[in-house]
This record gives sequence, structure tokens and C-alpha cells, in this order.
Amino acid sequence: MGSISVERPLAPPPSTTTYNIASIPADGIGPEVISAGIKVLNTLAQTFNTFSFTFEHFDWSSDKYIEKGRYIPEGGLDSLRKFHAILFGAVGDQRVPDHISLWGLRLAICQPFQQYANVRPTRVLKGVTSPLSSCQADPSKLDWVIIRENSEGEYAGHGGRSHTNQPWEVATDVSIFTRHGAERLLRFAYETARSRPRKQITFVTKSNAQRNGMVLWDDVHELVKKDYPDVKTDKMLVDAMTCRMTLQPETIDTVVATNLHADILSDLAAALAGSIGIAPTSNLDPTRQNPSMFEPIHGSAWDIAGKGVANPVGTFWTCAEMVRWLGQEEAAEVLMEAVENVLGQGVKTRDLGGKAGTEEVTNSVCEEIKQIGKQRGFGSKAK
Ligand code: IPM
Ligand code: MG
Repeated sequence: MGSISVERPLAPPPSTTTYNIASIPADGIGPEVISAGIKVLNTLAQTFNTFSFTFEHFDWSSDKYIEKGRYIPEGGLDSLRKFHAILFGAVGDQRVPDHISLWGLRLAICQPFQQYANVRPTRVLKGVTSPLSSCQADPSKLDWVIIRENSEGEYAGHGGRSHTNQPWEVATDVSIFTRHGAERLLRFAYETARSRPRKQITFVTKSNAQRNGMVLWDDVHELVKKDYPDVKTDKMLVDAMTCRMTLQPETIDTVVATNLHADILSDLAAALAGSIGIAPTSNLDPTRQNPSMFEPIHGSAWDIAGKGVANPVGTFWTCAEMVRWLGQEEAAEVLMEAVENVLGQGVKTRDLGGKAGTEEVTNSVCEEIKQIGKQRGFGSKAK
């Protein structure tokens, strides 16, 4: 594609065995689920005995914002750069308007670090029931990964307000679509589709109504898809995509969409998979020039914060995605297997219809990891 071609859409993982992780638990149930995640990650590392983690905690949160007037202190981003990955809890607090907390912390990391690919896998986990009758009979019918553009589009932050408080006050939010931004993300999405068994992608657009940015998005897609003849591709308008996700989930594998479209579709996906409380998100810089950031989708959930009942499964799935990104594919599989075994045994928090607390679920997952490790002889071969 000439001079705008994006180099290295997927850089190789680090060749280290000690992964230095920055943790930002932040608000609400964030600290509880992140400490559960760290416990599980350390158990995973001890079980495999071929890699380890170090964690450094950053107390950036809405409390800090209220106290100091900013979420990220001077030089904060630079101090994150040296880590292999960032594990993020949740941001959001009633005392701070949502757009301030989001732009002050999460987007203030995602955008400068060019974490342009947001990855949202969705499956019906064992022990979780989909509201779709077809998936109740056969949960394997819903196995998707949504790739969300994460650096521009409707979240570009371009716009403003004029005539403040006048009856003719005006406000704009201008979506920004760039050829470069679309190409790098679409290439990443096609690489992801190619790495999955079905090698199939659905490209989502709304170029019938939005005749500039969305048409550029379509044009770039037409060019990129030519480089992936082995990936089966189809195109959907975003509104029609909601029907297909609901009525024909088995026809979908990888989905690629713009920032706002994928935001909405990923909530639908999580609900169709049985719970919006357990979905993970990876904010990736596929070039690996900056650390990538991993977070559960659920948010700060202040109503249950500090009660020991928060569901840590979203964080465990997030940790599995992080471990996979760091190059420990087998460990990621074992972590998810342990999580599903525990959920399948009925050890679940209240939001999934169970009675267990955060600690019980966490300890059960740790025990299950050790059991799997023993059965398969992990650890004994190492060191
Ligand atoms: C998400 C969330 C955020 C988003 C909110 C909290 C602004 O819904 O990660 O999907 O829209 O990006
Ligand atoms: Mg969302």
C-alpha cells in the first residue's frame, strides 16, 4: 500500500522470563479484583516454574484526583514505559464526572501509548448460561473476538463547546478517521482472524449513512483484505450486526469495528455470552514499542466495593489475556481451564447465581491451577 504501509502489525513477545507488571487498581472494586488477579498470576508462575512476575503498584485513582487535581502525576507515563504490561482495575467515582475520570486516567494511558487495538474475546464459559436458547443447547456456537479501534474514530476527543450557557449553546464531537489508523487496526484484526481456526472476519461499518469517515474506513478495508486471501471476509452494517449476533451467533468469528461501534457491540456480546461482569479487555500496542494495558470491562461497581463479593473472573480472564500477550500461551490456557473448572463446579459469585465471595473463588482457582500442574507434571521439569 505504498508509503503509508504499516510495518510490523504484530511484533514478537518479549524473550524474558521475568515479567515486570505495573498495577493500577484505581477505584471501587478495582483493588479487590486486582489483588485476586495478582494472587492467581503468582500461583500460575509458581506452578509452571519457568517464568515469574514482579508487580509495582501505582495509586492513581479518583481519590488521588480529588486530593491532587490529577490522576497521573508529572512524569507518570514515563515511569510506566519500562514495564512489560499494565494491569488496570477500574476507574469511575460518583464525585468525578465520568468523562473527566475516563480521559484523566484510562484514555490518558491508551492514547499516548498508541494502544490502538482493543481486543474483546467473548465465549460462553463453563458454568455460565447464555440467554440465547441456541447457545444453551450448544455453548460452542458463541466464540468470538471483537477487535475495537482504540485510538481515534468517535473517541478522538475532537470538538468543543461555544456560546456557553446561551440558549444557542453549541457542542461538537467530531469523529476522526485516518488512513493510517484504519490500516494498522484492520491489519491487526486480519492477523487475529488468521490466527484462529476458522480464519473468518466480519467487517462492521455504517458507510450508508456516514459518507466520509466511514467510507474511508471501507476503502482501507478493501485494500487490506487483498493481503489476506486465506481469511474469509464479509461486511455488515452495525445495526444489522446486532441482529446477526443475536440470531445467528454461530456464523461469526472475528469482528472488527470502529471505537464506538465496537464499544456497543462488545456489551451486546458480553450479555449474549451470559454475563457482562466477566468480560476482559486488552488495550494493545501491537508494535510493542509501549506497554499494553489489560483490564476487566466491568467498571468500579461502588455498590459492592469493600464487601468481598466482587466477581474476580473478569480479572482472571484479563490476566490470561495478558499472559498470552507476554508469550506464555500454555499458561494462559491453563488459567482459563482452571477458571472454567471452578465455575463449572458451581463456585461462583452472586452475579453469576452463586454464593461464593471473591476470596473463595480466588482460592479455588489457585487450587485448581496447582491440581492441573500436578496432573500434567508442570514445574518438575523446570529449573
Ligand atoms: C468500555 C467502557 C468505556 C468505553 C466507558 C467506561 C467510557 O464502556 O471500555 O467499553 O466506552 O470505552
Ligand atoms: Mg463499553
